[in-house]
Amino acid sequence: MRSVFRDFTDDFFEILTYPKENWEDFWKSYKKLFDFVDIYVKKTNLKDEDIVKKLKEIGRRDLDKAFWYKQEIIRNLKSDIIEDLTKYSEKFQLNRGDFAVYLSVFLGDKPYLFLDSFKGTIIVVDILYLYFNKDKINPRKIIEEAITTFINFTSPNKKKADFWILYDKIKTIITDKNYKDRNQVLKIICELLAERIPYYNWVGFYLVDEKEKDSLTLGPFVGEPTEHTKIKFGQGICGQAASTKTTFIVDDVSKEDNYLSCSPKTQSEIVVPIFDKKGKIVGEIDIDSHNKASFDSDDHNFLEAIAKLLTERFW
Ligand code: SME
Repeated sequence: MRSVFRDFTDDFFEILTYPKENWEDFWKSYKKLFDFVDIYVKKTNLKDEDIVKKLKEIGRRDLDKAFWYKQEIIRNLKSDIIEDLTKYSEKFQLNRGDFAVYLSVFLGDKPYLFLDSFKGTIIVVDILYLYFNKDKINPRKIIEEAITTFINFTSPNKKKADFWILYDKIKTIITDKNYKDRNQVLKIICELLAERIPYYNWVGFYLVDEKEKDSLTLGPFVGEPTEHTKIKFGQGICGQAASTKTTFIVDDVSKEDNYLSCSPKTQSEIVVPIFDKKGKIVGEIDIDSHNKASFDSDDHNFLEAIAKLLTERFW
């Protein structure tokens, strides 16, 4: 089972090693490192400068004290929570697999918040709030309350739970330096996706041809062979995704004029571009489904997250 409780506070407290005038730079690079921080920023609609302004108002003195408070409680808190979660795994519905609890630092205004992602919900407990309210509240009770609130108000989401496991697995493979060959990694990803997600019936990569300008060449794939081994930018769904550099979701391929049919069984399709680190398109993930309207925003975000991992490692 993946770990349901994770501590990210030390990553934030790195801020204390920066002079105050560089806190904005710190915040921006910190946000890039952690998806859940980015989701927080989008959800709260706060601008980076507003967040940094608030942190500066809180000040180094209190952040420093919050850090030492965290050091003081963390060992017991971790072991208590892990004990609770293991002992009461049924009560806390751990087998749902569509949530996790992260300990982090935000602005100290709420004990916890729920951040939705393609992988499920990240329940973030704010150590700064716990510190500000240390005489009134018990951190362990707050974490239990956060989980109980979440499971009482949402129904289990199996698709997100599956995406979470699969994403972690794919991330492990992409970042494993023992896999040296890019096409080998791409092939493993195709196999995993096709095997684990029932409606991913054809999974493949198209790669931008370095010699032929504005042209895609079929790379590793799993599914029926296709005659479309070369696709010009602009042609079909793949070519349009490449020329516009955007993800395409087609709910019903029979209604598309600019579409290249690979199999009569295909009813819907998603194509997600892959970029190099400078933002140039280098390829795409293409998935066909035998059902109509198979792909939603979770598939979209899941596959874009995989594309980002590939950029980091290979392009
Ligand atoms: N349908 C795609 C072509 C690739 S196949 O789906 C494998 C398109 O319209 O670009």
